[in-house]
Amino acid sequence: MTVVDTDAPPVGAAEVPSFTVTFIVRRFNPETDAEPYWQDFDVEMYATDKVLDGLHKIKWEMDGSLSFRRSCAHGICGSDAMRINGRNRLACKTLIKDLDVSEPVYIEAIKGLPLEKI
Ligand code: FES
Repeated sequence: MTVVDTDAPPVGAAEVPSFTVTFIVRRFNPETDAEPYWQDFDVEMYATDKVLDGLHKIKWEMDGSLSFRRSCAHGICGSDAMRINGRNRLACKTLIKDLDVSEPVYIEAIKGLPLEKI
């Protein structure tokens, strides 16, 4: 009979380092805010995470009032298009490892469309 220690990491599994990424998010609720404002969040991330993962962590673990569009999470539908560090990108296709996380990551809605919160 073989005894398996289920608390031990799998053989050959390496510890994946995590690090803190500061997201600075431009927020606006047309029902309560007179003007948009920037809010920062420090999020524990892994290099293999995507920006969308960071936004999910903020929404699910830090501030449930954060709203953003997303659907497929696989770069197909385009619904999570947003400005990331000043460039239009898909949050589900932008890997944290491809950003300079020694600086904050700026997130805002794409320009030219009205901000809505549904
Ligand atoms: S959520 Fe569909 S493209 Fe990103």
